Amino acid sequence: MRIVILESSQVVAQRSAEIILDQVDRSPESTLGLATGGTPLGTYSELVRAVEQDRIDFSGCTTFNLDEYVGLDAEHPQSYRYFMRKHLFEPAGFDLDHCHFPSVDFEDILASCDDYEALIEDHGGIDLQLLGIGTDGHIAFNEQGSSLASRTRIKALTAQTRKDNARFFDSIDQVPELAVTMGIATILDAQKIVLMATGLGKAEAIRATVEGPVSASIPASALQLHPKVTVLLDEQAASLLERADYYRDVELIQRRLETSVAPK
Ligand code: F6R
Repeated sequence: MRIVILESSQVVAQRSAEIILDQVDRSPESTLGLATGGTPLGTYSELVRAVEQDRIDFSGCTTFNLDEYVGLDAEHPQSYRYFMRKHLFEPAGFDLDHCHFPSVDFEDILASCDDYEALIEDHGGIDLQLLGIGTDGHIAFNEQGSSLASRTRIKALTAQTRKDNARFFDSIDQVPELAVTMGIATILDAQKIVLMATGLGKAEAIRATVEGPVSASIPASALQLHPKVTVLLDEQAASLLERADYYRDVELIQRRLETSVAPK
């Protein structure tokens, strides 16, 4: 894992946006895996700004979102389809026909989970996957105890996740109990992964993810098994890392190497 400790959440947003812009610049028909929640909002604002400045064109990209709540329709302001349209897809000019979500149609949920996996595969897999992390170490809605070999499926949200996400709803009772989520193995299939975390509330989950053992009890720790993961952290989210000084040293060397050999 490449651990990058940055001075603020604003810089985390800028750095994550730079990685996505670089990907799409090199390959305008990239397949992007995208997350919702509070963490990527700054990233998405940076991407929208880049479009407004004519720096990038996302219309050739295909996207796959990590997850969606069961029980909210696409027009519900807290559905992830609505969130993505509002914060990224419409203002950044994505082609909505190429923006995919796991189906939450209850009648047909088992078949549609397999279909989602097949659709990702038909597109040649995900080139770059963006992730946030739950305070309990979940990625997407792979809650604690999720199999490291899991694929897209329906999951019950934990009381902690429902409590964390209640801030987006009028009350905790309105937070759905179920979601359809990519699995951990689905996420690990991506070519490259960027995990972002900001704020003190994520510090313990990040410590366990980066410096703890690989364990289904901390689903994000499975990212240790992937060869190309970049972890972008602000100082607060990095505050419990024992090897923080080492990561800073490595990053300085890495940046120096990249700027000296970067193609012009
Ligand atoms: C959302 C998702 C979740 C969030 C996580 C952190 O699509 O997959 O795993 O990334 O719950 O949420 P925030 O960013 O709101 O703290």
